[in-house]
Amino acid sequence: MSYDITKIRTNFPVLHQQVYGKPLIYFDSAASAQKPAQVLMAEEKLHNDYYGNIHRGAHFMADKATEHFENVRTQVRDFINAKYREEIIFTKGTTESINLVAFSFCERFLNEGDEIIVSEMEHHANIVPWQMAALRKKARVVKLPFNDSGVLEIEKLPQLITQKTKLISVAHVSNVLGTINQVNEIIRIAHQKNVPVLVDGAQAVPHLKVNVQEMDADFYVFSAHKMYGPNGVGVLYGKKEWLEKMPPYQGGGEMISEVSFEGTTFNELPYKFEAGTPHISGVIAFGAALSVLQETGFENIRKHEIELLNIATEGLNQIPGINIYGQSTEKSGVISFNIEGIHPYDLGMLLDKSGIAVRTGHLCADTVMQHFGIVGCVRISFGIYNTMEEVKVFLTTLNKLRLMF
Ligand code: ALA
Repeated sequence: MSYDITKIRTNFPVLHQQVYGKPLIYFDSAASAQKPAQVLMAEEKLHNDYYGNIHRGAHFMADKATEHFENVRTQVRDFINAKYREEIIFTKGTTESINLVAFSFCERFLNEGDEIIVSEMEHHANIVPWQMAALRKKARVVKLPFNDSGVLEIEKLPQLITQKTKLISVAHVSNVLGTINQVNEIIRIAHQKNVPVLVDGAQAVPHLKVNVQEMDADFYVFSAHKMYGPNGVGVLYGKKEWLEKMPPYQGGGEMISEVSFEGTTFNELPYKFEAGTPHISGVIAFGAALSVLQETGFENIRKHEIELLNIATEGLNQIPGINIYGQSTEKSGVISFNIEGIHPYDLGMLLDKSGIAVRTGHLCADTVMQHFGIVGCVRISFGIYNTMEEVKVFLTTLNKLRLMF
């Protein structure tokens, strides 16, 4: 199937508008992607036709909502090629998925003096929960560094792994540098020493075909809202053998088997980790987003994205005083940069006034900013709906703005 950008864009009504009198160019999909009509319609259909609380078996509509909800679990299993449906836990996002593992895994397996290895290029969501767990357990978070091109120094990993290492947590794709990390290799090295690995796939799943069994990840986490789905929905994939040994994260309805004042027994997977009424409409609409991604096809998505990335990088490299953070040969559709003498916030604000939505600041990745000795940067990030024309307009606009300083 060829990449029909016009058809793709037709499904995103939000893109067809002007901001500040200029046609909108949305270059902030790494923060959150826009939602296609299929997703909006799935949510509306649920509310118009069959809304009810799930898993309570109370009535016709509740049963129908349960069936649709559980079908999405199967869809997610197939999407990432997990072995079992019960290895798919719905959460409210990547951050909650990581916090769940950081609490539950560490409660069971982390002891005083132990270590968790985290890469230097992580989003705050993949650093802070481990630091909190380490504080609770008197353990330590150890850094796996990256080089100035934004590539992880994997050769240092074997030395960093010690008897005390209980887990390694690493991004599949960096939200700042765009680097596609060699997670298969990291997992291979870790497993040689029997250390499990959590992969933060938030910036990878919208762009790359993910196969958790082939990768052999012990945990893989991501959010629906970066995949053209609703916000407030996320996934924790975990190998059954780990999830079964881990204690519940939150208590409440659904996660129990029996409750009495003498004590409580817990439900089986995946419900043990899904306390309370979940984001029913969000999960059901997420199913529609997964179908959109599947129909578009990851080969097409990647090819299109590389074209956008190449032309944008080439254009940016012509700009005097430009610094691009992340020069890996394996990059996703993310470019973070600064232009000497221009504050990233000023640039972001002026781009916004020109109709171009970008993200500025530390990008929730202070350790990456510290590596480069900067306080922040400007980031453009692409979605399936972005065009070459938009990249050209962005480059022309940026050049004009630069001359104003
Ligand atoms: N994690 C999101 C980003 O990188 C919010 O912008």
